[in-house]
Amino acid sequence: MSKDYLILKAIKMRSKAFAPYSKYKVGAAVLTDSGEIFGGCNIENSSYSLTCCAERVALFKAYSEGYRTIKALSVSTENAGMPCGACRQVIWDLCGDIPIYICDGKKFISKSSSRALLPLPFDNTKL
Ligand code: THU
Repeated sequence: MSKDYLILKAIKMRSKAFAPYSKYKVGAAVLTDSGEIFGGCNIENSSYSLTCCAERVALFKAYSEGYRTIKALSVSTENAGMPCGACRQVIWDLCGDIPIYICDGKKFISKSSSRALLPLPFDNTKL
């Protein structure tokens, strides 16, 4: 089932993380409407604020390959951390309301959604 693959992909992507500063490895994966799965990991920078989170790397990989409809996202950290505020905004903007599967380093832990993580969002309906 694609949800299981999506979860496994996020867990696997943690091993690709480039996190020499925080040592906090994050993996993510997105599922497109046509069934493709794109993975991402956090990529840190010596100028810390230029770091890109795993969720955005995965999403931008899918978008940059032309995929525009994202059905679900999974995230894996060592301690089942939740997506940061910046990623919540980007996820809402690029995906709308989708399920988000939160995992620790080994397994699925909990299900949320982009709506639940970003109530009262700012988006293009205001522009
Ligand atoms: N990080 C992510 O990749 N995703 C999040 O949603 C939270 C934070 C990364 C950024 C940084 O490399 C490390 O985790 C510690 O903040």
